[in-house]
Amino acid sequence: MKQQGYLITLEGIEGVGKSTHMEFIQHVLEAKGITPLMTREPGGTPIAEAIRHVFASHHDEPMTDETEFLLLFAARAQHVQARIKPSLTSGKWVVCDRYIDASYAYQGGGRGIPLERIAQLEAWVCQGCLPDLTLLLDAPVPLALSRIQCRAAADRVESEKVVFFQRVRDAYLARAAQFSARFRVIDASGSPESVQMQLHTVLTEFIENH
Ligand code: TMP
Repeated sequence: MKQQGYLITLEGIEGVGKSTHMEFIQHVLEAKGITPLMTREPGGTPIAEAIRHVFASHHDEPMTDETEFLLLFAARAQHVQARIKPSLTSGKWVVCDRYIDASYAYQGGGRGIPLERIAQLEAWVCQGCLPDLTLLLDAPVPLALSRIQCRAAADRVESEKVVFFQRVRDAYLARAAQFSARFRVIDASGSPESVQMQLHTVLTEFIENH
């Protein structure tokens, strides 16, 4: 096993069930004797969570795409330096609910921010902390969105239209094809149990090989 901990990220559009499955991932790792840091983006530290609140809330003025983009990377800068990097350096495994691929999918695919610009901030802000394994929960957009319709109030991003989420999903799948060595695409269109079976297989294989 290498000295550093490993960074596992969980990605997918709204409604694919990430929050439910974060807990399952934690249980799988713990059953193998690994006690991971469980965290999320945007957020994961008090300052980053405060930025998340500004990012997710509805405001009296529209938020520009650039503002949104920079807010997310400001939160990430805090999160990487205060939590992710120190944890990985000390040998701890980190499981993050969304990370850098979400910026490529939402800000790149969804908003149209140039990918080179995202790559520039990635190089600056992530400080070499890049995912070792990315679990992409994938489901058709209409199915995923139908699952969040029962939620109380949609936040700023959840209020986007179907075409936006279609672009986000396409961008995620393009990333998965481009970085196939670290991505595992999980079919999230079925029951939670079927998703967990797939997650269990992928995680067990990853742990056994590292
Ligand atoms: P979630 O915690 O429910 O997944 O919500 C986080 C929201 O933030 C979700 O709508 C996706 C969005 N997001 C981005 O647009 N870009 C990013 O880089 C990250 C981390 C999240």
